[in-house]
Amino acid sequence: MIELEGLTKHYPNSKKPAVDDFSLKMAEGETCVFVGPSGCGKTTILRMINRLVEPTSGSIRIDGKDVLSADQDQLRRNMGYVIQQIGLLPHRTVRDNVALVPRLLGWAEERTLKRVQELLGLVGLDPEETGGKYPHQLSGGQMQRVGVARAMAADPPIMLMDEPFGAVDPIVRSRLQDEFLQIQHSFNKTICFVTHDIDEAMKMGDKVAIINEGKLVQHGTPMEVLSQPAGPFVRNLLGEDRGVKLLDLTKCQDLMRRDEGLLQKLQGNPCTIGALQPVKAALEVMLRKDCDTVTVLRGDRAVGALTWQEIKGHIHGLSGEDHEL
Ligand SMILES: Nc1ncnc2c1ncn2[C@@H]1O[C@H](COP(=O)(O)OP(=O)(O)OP(=O)(O)O)[C@@H](O)[C@H]1O
Ligand SMILES: [Mg+2]
Repeated sequence: MIELEGLTKHYPNSKKPAVDDFSLKMAEGETCVFVGPSGCGKTTILRMINRLVEPTSGSIRIDGKDVLSADQDQLRRNMGYVIQQIGLLPHRTVRDNVALVPRLLGWAEERTLKRVQELLGLVGLDPEETGGKYPHQLSGGQMQRVGVARAMAADPPIMLMDEPFGAVDPIVRSRLQDEFLQIQHSFNKTICFVTHDIDEAMKMGDKVAIINEGKLVQHGTPMEVLSQPAGPFVRNLLGEDRGVKLLDLTKCQDLMRRDEGLLQKLQGNPCTIGALQPVKAALEVMLRKDCDTVTVLRGDRAVGALTWQEIKGHIHGLSGEDHEL
């Protein structure tokens, strides 16, 4: 759906390009997370996709059509953009901020207001309480949610989200991420999501694009990146607990042993875990209950077992090196 090819941006008066020969393909309905240190070019890439910044060279195609020759208004209507600094209009209410694009598109007022209600609810804000407030009367996290609601208002097929959850505390952030993942599953939009939080990248991305100094360093699924980091930069970004992150992405049902004999022996085992839980949660049960085998349950039926040794073996096999758990 989105193809970036040889994309380069050289800002005037700067020695190095902000984005340097960057190529990437995103499939329809996919969430691609751009992650990398401050100043590596993430915002510049998003701004080139919706033409707020003109590339120095290279091409951008959406559905096979060249963006650089497309009609700018048309283009931006197809893309919801959550900007890094939120960017709500200060003298307009929350309701009017969210209604901005539908009104530009000439929607009937009734339809627009209905959509605003729906979206505020979706991002966890009470439409009655919040709709009439002005941005300065909101907390940073609430403003961010309004920003997300505004970007989604006209239901664009593409969403560009620049650190959309950057201004909230870890607990609210985690809730917003979960809500957003649910929304994403039901709406199936193509999303470019920028963050510099590697854990957020692993959680939100179908694919992750790791960027350093304007260059694409690695592109792949979170599992691919975690199990085969392309060199020291990626390894460093992923951190010491790469093994634990891998366990967070692997479900118990994918690793468990379906051994009837063993399950018989484990009857009454107080250490249990749900089949869809991450393996990391199984490890936590083992540590908490001081046991080395957990019974994996689907509903209340035992469907498999996981041992400490097997989990360790799995980590070593995936990452091809020793890991301290
Ligand atoms: N309008 C501009 N003029 C000149 N240089 C710019 C401009 N905008 C960005 N840059 C430079 O381009 C580089 C990339 O900036 P960009 O905003 O894309 O980084 P980023 O990855 O989004 O960083 P952050 O995580 O801090 O938001 C930086 O070195 C920045 O100083
Ligand atoms: Mg940025």
